[in-house]
Amino acid sequence: MKKKLIAGNWKMNGSLAANDALVRAVAAGVADAAAEVAVCVPAPYLAQVAALRGTVALGAQDLSAHESGAYTGEVSAGMLRDLGVHYVIVGHSERRQYHAESDELVARKAQRALAAGLVPIVCVGETLAQREAGETELVVKRQLAAVIHLNGHCISEIVVAYEPVWAIGTGRTATPEQAQAVHAVLRAQLQAATPRADRVKLLYGGSMNAANAAELLAQPDIDGGLIGGASLKAPDFLTIVAAASALAV
Ligand code: PGA
Repeated sequence: MKKKLIAGNWKMNGSLAANDALVRAVAAGVADAAAEVAVCVPAPYLAQVAALRGTVALGAQDLSAHESGAYTGEVSAGMLRDLGVHYVIVGHSERRQYHAESDELVARKAQRALAAGLVPIVCVGETLAQREAGETELVVKRQLAAVIHLNGHCISEIVVAYEPVWAIGTGRTATPEQAQAVHAVLRAQLQAATPRADRVKLLYGGSMNAANAAELLAQPDIDGGLIGGASLKAPDFLTIVAAASALAV
């Protein structure tokens, strides 16, 4: 089984003092983990976490679709690279929803990340209304298709996170069967685009926690997790990492 990837998404949480304690605890706890571990932190704290992270990979939560120039407030792929960032989340549903990010913009951000040598974690996922209307497959395939279309042969370099919007921060998790079904759809879509689809990590995200992680991570097409709330508590996050490590042996 390939090594699982457990990525924390801190969202807009943290402070110098809180980050220091959290990253030290996570770094100490994952030193011998048989899973890959990353934390995606707010941009102002990237340098702080870079200095404390140990074997934990550094991730950002967004990047600009532009290379450089007059884009006040934006953070470029090159700047992230400069700070030692490896992963960058693109197209999180909170950005699609609150910042009107389109499939096409998400695809351009993924392209910008890849061009700078970063690994984009491309998020896809349906809303509750879309699921109830039977549109889940259609929605996630449309979101991923935009990224495949623009990124061609580089597509095997990305990570995909399936995050049903109705499960994010709600405590309502997709069942392992529901998650696996969508992951299988995404895997098949990637297989049609690249002969190296099997190496693409497909993460599940949406109220993954210490109690439900093992069952979700045991699914054949679930290669890891994108963890929001539970990534802010070191013991919970480390329990998820341990569940992922246990599956690697
Ligand atoms: P959650 O968030 O684990 O708090 O549901 C996941 C995410 O939005 O990445």
